[in-house]
Amino acid sequence: VTESIEVGLEHPYRARVGPGCLSEVSELASAWSSCAVLTEAYVAGLHGDRLGLGDAPWIQVPRGEPAKSFSVLEDALEEMAAAGLDRKSLLVTFGGGAVSDLGGLAASLFMRGIDVVHCPTTLLAQVDAALGGKTAVNIGQGRNLAGTFHQPRAVFADTATLSTLDDGALRSGLGEAVKAALLGAAGLFETLEERAEDLLARDQDALAEVVASCCRLKARVVEADERERGRRKELNLGHTFGHAIEVASEFGIPHGVAVAVGLALALECSRRLDLLEDRELPGRTSRLLERLGLPRSLAALAIPASGIVDRMSLDKKRAGSEPRFVLPRAIGRMELDVRVAPEVLAQVLD
Ligand SMILES: NC(=O)c1ccc[n+]([C@@H]2O[C@H](COP(=O)([O-])OP(=O)(O)OC[C@H]3O[C@@H](n4cnc5c(N)ncnc54)[C@H](O)[C@@H]3O)[C@@H](O)[C@H]2O)c1
Ligand SMILES: [Zn+2]
Repeated sequence: VTESIEVGLEHPYRARVGPGCLSEVSELASAWSSCAVLTEAYVAGLHGDRLGLGDAPWIQVPRGEPAKSFSVLEDALEEMAAAGLDRKSLLVTFGGGAVSDLGGLAASLFMRGIDVVHCPTTLLAQVDAALGGKTAVNIGQGRNLAGTFHQPRAVFADTATLSTLDDGALRSGLGEAVKAALLGAAGLFETLEERAEDLLARDQDALAEVVASCCRLKARVVEADERERGRRKELNLGHTFGHAIEVASEFGIPHGVAVAVGLALALECSRRLDLLEDRELPGRTSRLLERLGLPRSLAALAIPASGIVDRMSLDKKRAGSEPRFVLPRAIGRMELDVRVAPEVLAQVLD
């Protein structure tokens, strides 16, 4: 079964979620005068046939995070021009969050903006990165520091592509799914609890249920606050800690895995600051993370607490000089922009 999730922005679009939905892309793409596919060779080799766009030009970028650089962006724009794309063309991205972030940015710049359709092939990109319109590349001073908002015209999250994900990438996506569950994606916490083993076994229907639920939540949040002036900040739950953990590990730990620890730490902050309305939530979340094979503490990652505070103060999401946190009160009830005193932070990180 393929589900449709509407994203009701100025130009409304649809996310299609389910095994096999990539077979719909070529027909949709025929509505544009021409199209090109932006992908990485590894993903193209594994799943490229599913797209049915063999006649279009395929632009290849480096695998994973190295794709998100200005030099790769420049090369991609050159290739788009050389392939004869014009203002009425479509760019189809096919890969993980790195490919959709880079491709979204390339599409927003090419001839001052052409349409883009994202076909995410990692769980993280399906539950989070492909929907919502944020694009970015990295610069020397930090990740995602150069980007735009450029909403896609459609998203196709084909869960059949997830069969080949390695364990790190699968768990990374599950970490973001637990975040969405805490943010109040309807029924998602229960689904994750009930289907943890199926998800780890890459059961396509279980994955589709989770992806659809996350997309529905993200669509509602983005509709309420497209440009992150208020409610969209919720999506940063677990990310102030998570980002510091990624930096401390020199990005050896996958994003969503770092976020998983960030969620446990955020809940511990809520507990210490007496914000919890649902006192069972930290324990329940911790048990879920464990069942999903996700770490719940810095110790589990062998990262020392020292240094995390310093790195956190550099987090780009800071407001003023101190880091601000999204802290849960209960499922679906977040406190935004919370300052946490250094001594409390030190206790939590301990
Ligand atoms: N724009 C947003 O709102 C947003 C949100 C979250 C994350 N992001 C960005 O997304 C990126 C992380 O995304 P990601 O985790 O997808 O990483 P990624 O794109 O780097 O992909 C991770 C790895 O998975 C491989 N891969 C992709 N599809 C595969 C498949 N079907 N089978 C096997 N392997 C496959 C890739 O080759 C790569 O090695 C980060 O750059 C992050 O900043 C953006
Ligand atoms: Zn994230």
